[in-house]
Amino acid sequence: MEEADIGLVGLGVMGENLALNIADNGYKVAVYNRTAEKVDAFLANAGDLKSNVMGSGELATFISMLKRPRSVIIMVKAGDPVDQVIAELKPLLSEGDVIIDAGNANYHDTVRRFSELDGTGIGFLGIGVSGGEEGARHGPSIMVGGSEAQWDNAEAVLTAISAKFNGEACCAYLGTGGAGHFVKTIHNGIEYADMQMIGEIYGIMRDGLAMSPAECAKVFEEWNKGPLDSYLIEITSHVLNAMDDESGKPLVEVILDAAGQKGTGRWSAIEALNLGVSATTIEGAVAARSISAMKDERVRGEEIYGAGAKGKATISLEALEKALLAGKIAAYAQGFAVMAKASEDNGWNLPLATIAKIWRAGCIIRSRFLDQIAQAFDSGGAANLLTQPAFIDMMKDSNGALRAVVATCAINELPSPCLSSALAYFDAYRQARGTTNLTQGQRDFFGAHGFKRSDKDGDFHHTWPSLIGQ
Ligand code: 6PG
Repeated sequence: MEEADIGLVGLGVMGENLALNIADNGYKVAVYNRTAEKVDAFLANAGDLKSNVMGSGELATFISMLKRPRSVIIMVKAGDPVDQVIAELKPLLSEGDVIIDAGNANYHDTVRRFSELDGTGIGFLGIGVSGGEEGARHGPSIMVGGSEAQWDNAEAVLTAISAKFNGEACCAYLGTGGAGHFVKTIHNGIEYADMQMIGEIYGIMRDGLAMSPAECAKVFEEWNKGPLDSYLIEITSHVLNAMDDESGKPLVEVILDAAGQKGTGRWSAIEALNLGVSATTIEGAVAARSISAMKDERVRGEEIYGAGAKGKATISLEALEKALLAGKIAAYAQGFAVMAKASEDNGWNLPLATIAKIWRAGCIIRSRFLDQIAQAFDSGGAANLLTQPAFIDMMKDSNGALRAVVATCAINELPSPCLSSALAYFDAYRQARGTTNLTQGQRDFFGAHGFKRSDKDGDFHHTWPSLIGQ
């Protein structure tokens, strides 16, 4: 009976596709789903992969199908459902087995689950899986964190099913506890920033340059052959080119401009704030989705203040391309800086070069750019991309365009929350003398918080005049 290499709980689209991917790679996979009919349907539809799949709608039977030490992937909705499945699995598993949560978990939950299983001998891995439905079926990027000892149980299967970049697997163990899910969270934060900046550039083309969706699509198609070459740029041209059968209009023109968000982008911004690392592009992207969802208020806002200028921008497509590259550098610099700080604080020792490498294929932010990041981190140097030689050159070449684009947006009343915060971050990052000397003076004035001096060591306080009675 014990013949499956790995088990999988949860036959939603992602779970089904992961199971098929495992079977496709020559491993035997057992599946379980609370609704038993789903298991029957999955087994009945497995086609050529039939001999590598098995399953049951009864949890104990499902567990009995697994080879020891057992590995069980959970692919259910993040949050309480994961805890429920763990509670049901626990009495059926034994020392040396491992539970693998492959959902988009909040890493704090992963840390808690990891420690709740501590002492039971059952290991826990929190793995970030990126690439959407297609990725799950044909090769996702897999970010692993948790029990290093039990990583052995599942390493061969997860490595085999992951995406490959020039033959290298996009799957790696990154650190203990919640490291894998933390890295996936930051991946999604960067994904938000990347998507938002592309959206802002589209906004300039549409509203500032009065370009049609098809014209915009062509430009993105062209850009996908250059330094911006990436999955997100590629799908952008497809989205812009799609037509709506019902209205006969470009589909993008009938899609409501109110973005959804499941939480990972927001978690990413929250973690950056908690760590005290500037991640303004991610914050800007989350805020942009929030304001996008306030459709009625925005309609009212336009009635009050009038619509922004249309078709009046004078900016070249070349500047837009360079600005997007500069914004992208700032966003990735921030994301990697957040991971570097989290690594330090949690003692994870996150391998930044490896993270960039496993993001080169399979995941949503896969791009040519990530290979350059991997090479930069591989050759050592500081964690902030803005100080890596290859990126210094790129940023020197492109920040002027970012400046011109942000100025164009301001003058033409076009919102650019992400691009403008990328520019503000860059300008703050390269300003040796900032303005918080004044902030420190104010803090000392009203709260005696003290300050340091630039000309000698120590802590100082000034005797400020009292304003009482004036
Ligand atoms: C991925 C995606 C995936 C999912 C996000 C989207 O890496 O495959 O990021 O995890 O698409 O959850 O999140 P939002 O619904 O918040 O955009």
